[in-house]
Amino acid sequence: TEPRRIALMPGDGIGPEVMAAAAEVLAALDRQTPLGLTWDWLDWPSTDWHRQHDEMMPADALTQVQAYDTLLMGALGDPGPLTDAERYCLPDSVSLAPLLQFRKGLDLWACERPARLLPGAPQYLADPRAAEVDMLVIRENSEGEYVNQGGRLHRGSADEVATQLEVFTRRATERLIRHAFARARERLAARGQGSRDFHCANKGRAAAQVCLITKRNAQPYWGDLYTEVFAEVAAEFPEIGVHHELVDAACMKFVQCPWTFDVVVASNLHGDILTDLAAVLSGGLGLAPSCNINPDSRAMPALFEPTHGSAPDIAGQGLANPAAMLLTTALMLDWVGCAQAAERLRQAVAKDLVTTAGQQRTCRDVTAGVIAALH
Ligand code: NAD
Ligand code: IPM
Ligand code: MN
Repeated sequence: TEPRRIALMPGDGIGPEVMAAAAEVLAALDRQTPLGLTWDWLDWPSTDWHRQHDEMMPADALTQVQAYDTLLMGALGDPGPLTDAERYCLPDSVSLAPLLQFRKGLDLWACERPARLLPGAPQYLADPRAAEVDMLVIRENSEGEYVNQGGRLHRGSADEVATQLEVFTRRATERLIRHAFARARERLAARGQGSRDFHCANKGRAAAQVCLITKRNAQPYWGDLYTEVFAEVAAEFPEIGVHHELVDAACMKFVQCPWTFDVVVASNLHGDILTDLAAVLSGGLGLAPSCNINPDSRAMPALFEPTHGSAPDIAGQGLANPAAMLLTTALMLDWVGCAQAAERLRQAVAKDLVTTAGQQRTCRDVTAGVIAALH
């Protein structure tokens, strides 16, 4: 069979630093057991590319990336220190546009962000049960608050008005929620009945749960649509418990009792916010993987990128933790059918964490430690 092709897109800020780590680790994995993968480096999308070409990526970028089975991206966004006049500065609206264009243009409608606290990772919550955090947040990735249609900032009067349209369709809601239940079913099969125990609205307690997030008390139109579709789809998955939280209360419970969550399904914006919070539950943004996929189709490449951004506050200093990118690389390896390599990589990241817990480490230290822990 043909080797599968990966495009490596380092991007901005700490993106190239953590991408270098991912490439080194991929090469090390490949030396141990050939992966059947090839990878190319792309200079775009990036602020550097913009400096040279006055655009974040070539006009036909979306077509070009379709030559690949999967895309691995560092991060985008380079606002830089706003005091540095020499610096090539782009507003986020320009530098991040490619990310949203890929998600939408490649029909990657589900964003999955698992949050587990690996032993040795910083545990920010004092309650010992926080060590048991093991949740999967699934974020709507194609519409909702990010649809960016029809909005406007009406300028030119003392009473300026900004309007921002949000669009939620039954089609996108239903596929998202069905996917969340399917993942809950897989997680239940993997962990076995009785190993975890969640409070559920429909059945008292269950060994797997999907929690729906809305703000239906203040945003009733899409709140009602999500609630209705959730109930319909839940009926197809009688073994999975269900639960609902308003997003504000969910934020509270992510901090107060995060071990009571299993699969969490949320809109685009709510999912974005909740997953930075969930990242802290797993030890910080430096440990939080993420992927953008179309669970129904491989017709387009999927896009793998950590939850974190370009971290301009630490960029260029070698301080970025590449573990989020390496765990993201493991998700990508699973996606392209290299499940054994993915598992070896996850175990190496875990082993490196345990053996170096509490130490202050550079990007290079972590990369070398993970490679040494590969077997
Ligand atoms: P950020 O995620 O870049 O950083 C938030 C904080 O977490 C910073 O203090 C940073 O130093 C720290 N951090 C992030 N990743 C880390 C890592 N791997 N190791 C150690 N510390 C890490 O978020 P921000 O500061 O709000 O945004 C910076 C830029 O990134 C903005 O332009 C934003 O729009 C963009 N952004 C891009 C993406 C993406 O490309 N997927 C995601 C989020 C933010
Ligand atoms: C993320 C990021 C993006 C988002 C930004 C950079 C547009 O925060 O991937 O979480 O909001 O989706
Ligand atoms: Mn985000």
